[in-house]
Amino acid sequence: MTTIAAAKACPFSDAAADFDPFDLTDPFPFYAYAREHAPVFYSERLGYWVVTRHADIKAVFENWQLFSSENAQAPIRPLGEPGRAILRAGGFTAYSGLSARIPPDHTRIRKVAQSCFGPRRFKAIEPQIHEIVNREIDRFAHRGKADFFREFAYDVPAYVLFRLVGVPEAEVPKVKAWAVSRALLTWGELSDEEQIPHVHNMVEYWAYCRSLVARAKADPGDDLPGDMVRMQRDGAEISDDEIAGVLYSVLFAGHETTTTLLTNALREVLLHRDQWERLKADPDRWTAATDEFLRFTPSIVAWRRRALADTEVGGVAIPRGANLLLLLGSANRDPDVFPDGDALDIDRANARNHLSFGYGIHFCLGQQLAKLEFGIAMRELARRLPSLRLAPDQDFAFAHNTSFRVPTALHIEWDVT
Ligand code: HEM
Repeated sequence: MTTIAAAKACPFSDAAADFDPFDLTDPFPFYAYAREHAPVFYSERLGYWVVTRHADIKAVFENWQLFSSENAQAPIRPLGEPGRAILRAGGFTAYSGLSARIPPDHTRIRKVAQSCFGPRRFKAIEPQIHEIVNREIDRFAHRGKADFFREFAYDVPAYVLFRLVGVPEAEVPKVKAWAVSRALLTWGELSDEEQIPHVHNMVEYWAYCRSLVARAKADPGDDLPGDMVRMQRDGAEISDDEIAGVLYSVLFAGHETTTTLLTNALREVLLHRDQWERLKADPDRWTAATDEFLRFTPSIVAWRRRALADTEVGGVAIPRGANLLLLLGSANRDPDVFPDGDALDIDRANARNHLSFGYGIHFCLGQQLAKLEFGIAMRELARRLPSLRLAPDQDFAFAHNTSFRVPTALHIEWDVT
């Protein structure tokens, strides 16, 4: 029998009605409730079937023939006619470079992209990551305080990625702004009117990706567009617009997610001081701990698939054409896979079984780079600012959208000697 105290302790009573897909402030208590009481449910508000358990989500990811990723980049709140007219007039034909493409196109394009994302490129960029990280710490180290999100995490992954893509650093602010527009249009809840400035940004963003391809064709550099253009010349089957599409993917996925990981992980490790102290004392542990931060506080808490036939997930009937919202943030704390999953534990043996990078044929192409950057940034921050702590009395507001969970600011302090 449920006691009054227990009933009060749990604020949820009906998963479908209680689910607020856009509020990512602290979705974890809801995830735990849904996993136990309604592991697969239909959200009227979203028009999506919501899947919460690790085994079910992994099974959906594995079965790409039945669960297509074609809806992964579709605006979760459809674009209004004014926005669509601006896209048409601006020649916007981008949709997705890879994540919403399906085989055989996906297989063909991924093969080209993957061979340009090999360990050789990442190894070559390692010293540059050190340089960028330390240069950015130098900017605020003397000050004793900073907004970590705005002054470090927002730009550093973009500076790194832009070296890979051969984009000058001066162009970071505009590309970051376009990435924000893309996130809001795809996973946010904007009105038709609010969409308009962001839609204009998308037109510019796509034109920019195409201009990078034109630039690379005229003079292929030692960078990602140059590599892809050379492969095309050597006979790889990929069109100019498909190369632009991969750049359109990477110029978003390649920094926004890492910005989010750095901010979330620093916040959590400073809230778990014992683990911060241990990592500080033994910097080599950061690499092994990376998967636990990805598990505990994933950059992307929800990702999408579409059922191509009548089927079932977790014993619940799913009709053909249904949209599925896979709660990766919930899978990562499923007690069937991660005992005491709501605890951050840098010694967790199976942390790498998280689903933060997806699973199967779309498994994240940049995960090696993200982990490399994370390890370097965290080690350098702990080494250079050992007294680092969260500024007191701050409220954490999280961006309003279904998928990218990140606080909008993270105020930190340290002693200046
Ligand atoms: C913490 C950092 C990152 C996280 C959490 C992350 C997460 C993800 C997720 C969830 C997917 C979808 C997987 C699926 O549908 O099964 C994905 C795909 C992808 N990611 Fe990442 N990502 C990160 C960093 C990066 C970086 C640094 C790059 C590029 C430099 C990148 C490039 C891509 C690409 C191109 C895809 C599409 C792959 C495909 O559909 O075949 N990601 N990522």
